[in-house]
Amino acid sequence: MSDRIPVAVLAATGSVGQRFIQLLDGHPMFEVVALTASDRSVGLLFSQACHWIISSDMPEWARNMIVKPTEPSSAAVPLVFSALPADAAKEVEPAFAQAGSMVCSNASTYRMEPDVSILFPEVNPEQAHIIPIQRRLRGWSGGIITNSNCTSTGLTVALKPLYDAFGIKKVFAVSMQALSGAGYPGVPSLDIIDNVVPYIKGEEEKVEIEPRKMLGRVEGDAIVNADFAVSAHTNRVPVVDGHTVVFSVELGQKTSLEQVMDALRSYQAPEVSRDLPSAPKPVIVLRDEADRPQPRLDRMTGRGMATVVGRVRPDSIYDYKMVTLSHNTIRGAAGGSVYNAELLVKLGYVK
Ligand SMILES: NC(=O)c1ccc[n+]([C@@H]2O[C@H](COP(=O)([O-])OP(=O)(O)OC[C@H]3O[C@@H](n4cnc5c(N)ncnc54)[C@H](OP(=O)(O)O)[C@@H]3O)[C@@H](O)[C@H]2O)c1
Repeated sequence: MSDRIPVAVLAATGSVGQRFIQLLDGHPMFEVVALTASDRSVGLLFSQACHWIISSDMPEWARNMIVKPTEPSSAAVPLVFSALPADAAKEVEPAFAQAGSMVCSNASTYRMEPDVSILFPEVNPEQAHIIPIQRRLRGWSGGIITNSNCTSTGLTVALKPLYDAFGIKKVFAVSMQALSGAGYPGVPSLDIIDNVVPYIKGEEEKVEIEPRKMLGRVEGDAIVNADFAVSAHTNRVPVVDGHTVVFSVELGQKTSLEQVMDALRSYQAPEVSRDLPSAPKPVIVLRDEADRPQPRLDRMTGRGMATVVGRVRPDSIYDYKMVTLSHNTIRGAAGGSVYNAELLVKLGYVK
């Protein structure tokens, strides 16, 4: 018998759900025992229900699984990975948490609740300790932890060393977001080929608040946001995978370019997160070419888990400006959730 932890993937047929299946194939700690989706897919073989859009083949074990309804009775497991849309997550994720599962969610539904962490092993593993508080407040034996919005991901990793070393006063960020971030089938081809769409519903609000929560800390029964301001513009561009964010930052103290580069280059994940199977090593890959990072060339850096930063230079209004790139369905979604789950196992919150 396998000694891996049995897990379920909720909304396994979508863009993020498929990434979960790819990343959990042969995972040393987790074994997928149930796949769920909407009523459209329930009862079908996964291979019939899922329009597979990932370049590696659909794993054999997944092909032959029957898609189950998205409810706790389908999967009494200690850990579930959720790729549910936000509206579907509202009822379903608490039901799993109540039934004793730890839910690692990609949905935005519970991200901003004060007792729910946007967990990020390279950045804020200490926020996992909100889980016993959440269990006490909500009467759950399981729990919910979330991933950030995929655009906040690379931005937050790049801000973390700067925040720790120098403090941050304000950030001005502009995103260029990949199509896979809109799920499948996502943005119609006639809207995006030869085009840039300067609006993504709800996205700017998320990017303006989530990095502050991720860099915040647990105080009493709640997570308190870090105290700096973010202004964001978000855009959809004709790139398949990989979100680019260009940003300018005003730091809390006078700092040389060399100090900024050193802080980025030498950043290490907190000790507890460093040796987990999904840990990116290094966390930040700092490129010094004038024209990098680029999504097509750099999104798979560190198996899609690293954050690539480049073009670090002085800013004429703020202090410094730079470019950050991260893979939206890997680091910004399924890979981030799997890394979170590895951390929760290590900390004893999933048994
Ligand atoms: N794509 C990204 O880069 C990214 C990054 C971070 C976070 N997210 C978040 O991750 C979640 C999934 O995004 P996605 O891009 O994978 O979307 P997607 O490609 O549109 O897939 C949606 C999935 O949800 C299932 N579903 C829809 N309604 C459902 C219901 N009522 N009950 C159960 N399952 C239901 C669908 O199943 P059927 O196939 O049966 O319809 C499908 O598996 C969203 O909350 C999104 O905001 C996405």
